[in-house]
Amino acid sequence: MKLIYGTAWKKERTAELVELALRTGFRGVDTACQPKHYNEPGVGEGIANSGINRSDLFIQTKYTSVRGQDPDNIPYDPSSPLETQIKKSLETSLKNLKTDYLDSLVMHSPMDTFEETLEGWKVMEQFVTDGKVKQLGISNCYSYDFFVDLFEKVDQKPAVLQNRFYADSGYDINLRKFCLDNNVTYQSFWTLSANPHLLEHKILTDLATKNSVTPAVVLYRSLSEIGVVPLCGTTSSKHMSEDLNLMEFDLNKDDINNVFSLLS
Ligand SMILES: NC(=O)c1ccc[n+]([C@@H]2O[C@H](COP(=O)([O-])OP(=O)(O)OC[C@H]3O[C@@H](n4cnc5c(N)ncnc54)[C@H](OP(=O)(O)O)[C@@H]3O)[C@@H](O)[C@H]2O)c1
Repeated sequence: MKLIYGTAWKKERTAELVELALRTGFRGVDTACQPKHYNEPGVGEGIANSGINRSDLFIQTKYTSVRGQDPDNIPYDPSSPLETQIKKSLETSLKNLKTDYLDSLVMHSPMDTFEETLEGWKVMEQFVTDGKVKQLGISNCYSYDFFVDLFEKVDQKPAVLQNRFYADSGYDINLRKFCLDNNVTYQSFWTLSANPHLLEHKILTDLATKNSVTPAVVLYRSLSEIGVVPLCGTTSSKHMSEDLNLMEFDLNKDDINNVFSLLS
């Protein structure tokens, strides 16, 4: 899967846009049990309306801790023990998404401490054992040491690292290398919104013109060549179609190296 459809901030248009994305050709969908930013029931509705077989889809959602929730709209009892919170979050996601299993469950960010993160991870591991979740991941984890420590200490290894792809983190160069070496999919978000300087750079605009695509597609394609899977949050039917054609043109090694020279 080269691109995943991101569903944040789509509010009442979520169902319509998810259905459109799936009908246009997306097969992966990312959401979260976090009503503050995601309309997870709308995602479930869009999936159902698309008519696409469940087995052809990759559905990913997130457990969001109390810290990441709107205090007036938390999808579990915040005073309950952590295990109960995470179980309730999963139960809500499965109901919202109208499915009996998730392809991927992501911890939205590390918990307050490493120990608490491990405690939460153990609860999520049980979901894998029970067959309710196929794989686990973590997001907003920018510390190399933290991620590697988590990777080494848990039984069910993170299969996904979902991070903001931006200059302030040095584009996670070390984390991305670890992911490549250890069979972890690095999913990027804010790939376009955090990088207008890349999209406007002559290297990207020239490659875009040469290949009759947009600079956004050149960036998505370049990332795809190094194993990164971008989350694509477009609301435009045109952008969806253009983006999904990311493999339909030639980009040689020099072109790709030129794009990545901009990240250092
Ligand atoms: N784990 C986390 O904490 C976290 C945080 C933020 C986001 N995410 C996930 O990442 C997803 C994507 O995030 P995002 O929406 O901020 O980032 P994005 O995909 O980098 O940016 C989307 C913006 O770029 C514009 N755009 C222009 N040309 C585009 C093109 N060819 N293709 C796609 N977009 C184009 C879109 O406008 P148009 O609508 O006009 O195309 C939209 O305003 C979210 O929906 C969510 O699933 C996760």
